[in-house]
Amino acid sequence: MFRKATEATIVAILAALAIATPVVDTHVNKVVSRPNIEPFPHNSGRTKPHSPPRTKECTVAALGGGKDDAPRILDAFHKCNQGGTVILDRQYTIATALDLTFLDSVDVALSGSIKFAADIDYWVENSFKYAFQSSTAFWKIGGRDVNIYGGGVGVIDGNGQPWWDGFARNSSLLRPISLVLDGLQGGSVTGIRMINPPNWFNLIANSSDILISDMVLTAKSSNKNSVKNSDGWDTYRSDHVVIQNSVIDNTDDCVSFKPNSTNIVVQGLRCNGSHGISVGSLGQYVEQYDIVENVYIYNNTMSNASDAARIKVWPGVHSEFQPILSGGGGSGYVKNITYEKYESINNDWAIEVNQCYGQSNKTLCELYPSNMTISDIYFIDLWGTTSSKHDPKVGTLVCSSPEQCYNFYAKNVSITSPKGNSKWVCSNFNTSGLEGFDCISG
Ligand SMILES: *[C@@H]1O[C@H](CO)[C@@H](O)[C@H](O)[C@H]1NC(C)=O
Ligand SMILES: *[C@@H]1O[C@H](CO)[C@@H](O)[C@H](O)[C@H]1NC(C)=O
Ligand SMILES: *[C@@H]1O[C@H](CO)[C@@H](O)[C@H](O)[C@H]1NC(C)=O
Ligand SMILES: *[C@@H]1O[C@H](CO)[C@@H](O)[C@H](O)[C@H]1NC(C)=O
Ligand SMILES: *[C@@H]1O[C@H](CO)[C@@H](O)[C@H](O)[C@H]1NC(C)=O
Ligand SMILES: *[C@@H]1O[C@H](CO)[C@@H](O)[C@H](O)[C@H]1NC(C)=O
Ligand SMILES: *[C@@H]1O[C@H](CO)[C@@H](O)[C@H](O)[C@H]1NC(C)=O
Ligand SMILES: *[C@@H]1O[C@H](CO)[C@@H](O)[C@H](O)[C@H]1NC(C)=O
Ligand SMILES: *[C@@H]1O[C@H](CO)[C@@H](O)[C@H](O)[C@H]1NC(C)=O
Ligand SMILES: *[C@@H]1O[C@H](CO)[C@@H](O)[C@H](O)[C@H]1NC(C)=O
Ligand SMILES: *[C@@H]1O[C@H](CO)[C@@H](O)[C@H](O)[C@H]1NC(C)=O
Repeated sequence: MFRKATEATIVAILAALAIATPVVDTHVNKVVSRPNIEPFPHNSGRTKPHSPPRTKECTVAALGGGKDDAPRILDAFHKCNQGGTVILDRQYTIATALDLTFLDSVDVALSGSIKFAADIDYWVENSFKYAFQSSTAFWKIGGRDVNIYGGGVGVIDGNGQPWWDGFARNSSLLRPISLVLDGLQGGSVTGIRMINPPNWFNLIANSSDILISDMVLTAKSSNKNSVKNSDGWDTYRSDHVVIQNSVIDNTDDCVSFKPNSTNIVVQGLRCNGSHGISVGSLGQYVEQYDIVENVYIYNNTMSNASDAARIKVWPGVHSEFQPILSGGGGSGYVKNITYEKYESINNDWAIEVNQCYGQSNKTLCELYPSNMTISDIYFIDLWGTTSSKHDPKVGTLVCSSPEQCYNFYAKNVSITSPKGNSKWVCSNFNTSGLEGFDCISG
C-alpha cells in the first residue's frame, strides 16, 4: 500500500518535472572559443579587420525531438548582439526561416549541430528568395563583424537527401542554400563541418572582408538520386574574400566566382569530385554588367572533377540550359585571374575556358560572340594528370572571338593525359602566351 503510494507519487513528480522542463538537453558539447586564424600565406590585398573580444554570452537550449529552435536562436542573437557570443553547443533543428541580417559585433560558438527540417512544402513557401539564379535560403546572416566558429566539431547539416529525392520528381523545386552570408561587412566562418546541402553549401553575397578557413564540406547521396549542385562557396557582389585550408567533397563547383566578385583569394583547398574552381557563369542576364577581377587561386589540389581551372561565360544569345537555368547576352568582363601552384589529379579537363556556356549550338555562339570579355589570365605551375575522358586532350580554351579573349598566359604547365601526348584545344584567341602548349583546333 505504502509502496504503491510512493510509486504513484514518484510518477506524479516525474510527470510534473517533465512538464516544467520541456527542454531535454541530452547532448551538450564543450564550448569552443574563438580561434586566431589569419589569411595565410596571402591576403586579399588588405588585412583582416580587427574584431574586439566579446564580453557576454548567450547559451541556447535545444528543444530536441526535431522541434523548431529558430525562435530561441533569434532571441539569443537579439540578447547577445553588440558585443556577445551566442553559444550553440547542442543539437538544434531549424524549421522556420531565420533572418539574422541585423548582426553587429557578435560571435557564434557552434560546437553543436544545426540541422534544417526537411519540410519541403514549408520551405518552398517561406525560404528567402533571391532573383540571382533563383536561389533561396533557410537563413541569412548579415551586418558587421561576425565570427562563426566550430572548432572542428560544429556541424551544419542541410539534410539534403529529401531535397535531392524531390528534385528527381520536380526539377523546378527551389532548394535552399545551407548558409548564406548576405550583406556581411567583416566576418569569418571557420572550423565547421558542413554536410549534405539541398543546393549550394555557401553563398557569400553583398559582403566584404570575409575569411573562410578550416572547413570540411561533404555531400553524399544515400540512394540512386544524385546530389544536386552542392557548390562549395559561391561569391556574388562581394569584395575582399579569402577562402582557405579546407577539404571539399562534392559534385559541383568547389568555389565559384559569380557576378561582381573582386579581390578574392582561394588557397590551400583540397577539392574532390567537383566541377572545378570556377569563374562564372557570367553574362547570364542581358540587363546586367558582371565583373570578376583580381582573383588569386594559389596552392590548391583538385581531383576526380570535370575541371580543375575553369572560366565559363554565357554567349551573346539567349540560351535555354536547364529548367531554372537559362540566359545569355549579358555583358561585362573577367580580368586578372591567376591560377598558381595547382595540382590536377584525374580531372576531365585541367583547364576549361568556355564562352558558350549553356548553349549546345556552337554555330550560334560564333554568330553571337559573348558580351563578356576575358583578359589577363595566368596559369602558372600547374601539374598532374587528367582522366581518360578526352584523352589525349587535357584542356580546352575556346573563345567566341579574339576581341573577347586576350592576354592569356601559361608558364610551367605540365599536365599528362593517360596516353601521354597531351594536347590542348585552343581557338579564337592569340595563343602566343601559352608556353609549351601543343594546341589543336578541335
Ligand atoms: C515544383 O516545385 C515548384 C516550387 O519549387 C512548384 O512551384 C511546382 O508546382 C512544383 N511542380 C510540381 C509538378 O510539383
Ligand atoms: C544583395 O543586395 C541586393 C541589393 O540590396 C538585394 O536585392 C539582394 O537580395 C541581396 N542578396 C542577394 C543574394 O542577392
Ligand atoms: C598549401 O596548402 C596546404 C593545405 O592544403 C598547406 O598545408 C601548405 O602549407 C600550403 N603550402 C603553401 C606553400 O602555402
Ligand atoms: C572523390 O570523388 C569521387 C568522384 O565523385 C568519388 O567517387 C570518391 O568517393 C571521392 N573520394 C573521396 C576520398 O572522397
Ligand atoms: C557590378 O558592378 C558594376 C560596377 O559597379 C555595376 O554597374 C553592376 O550593376 C554590378 N552588377 C551586379 C550584378 O551587381
Ligand atoms: C591582379 O590581381 C592580383 C591578385 O591576384 C593583385 O595582387 C594585383 O595587384 C592585380 N593587378 C592589377 C593590375 O590590379
Ligand atoms: C578519386 O576518386 C577515387 C574513387 O573514384 C578515390 O579512390 C580517390 O581517393 C579520389 N582521389 C582523391 C584525391 O580524393
Ligand atoms: C544552330 O544554329 C544555326 C544558326 O542559327 C542554325 O542554322 C542551325 O540549324 C542550328 N543547329 C541546330 C542543330 O539546331
Ligand atoms: C551582345 O552581343 C550581341 C552579339 O554578339 C550583340 O548583338 C548585342 O548588341 C550585344 N549586347 C550588348 C549589350 O553589348
Ligand atoms: C614548375 O612547377 C613545378 C611544380 O609542378 C615546381 O616544382 C617547379 O619549381 C616549377 N618550375 C619553375 C621553373 O618554376
Ligand atoms: C599575338 O601576340 C603576340 C604577343 O603580343 C604578338 O607578337 C603577335 O603579333 C600576336 N599575333 C596575332 C596573330 O595577333
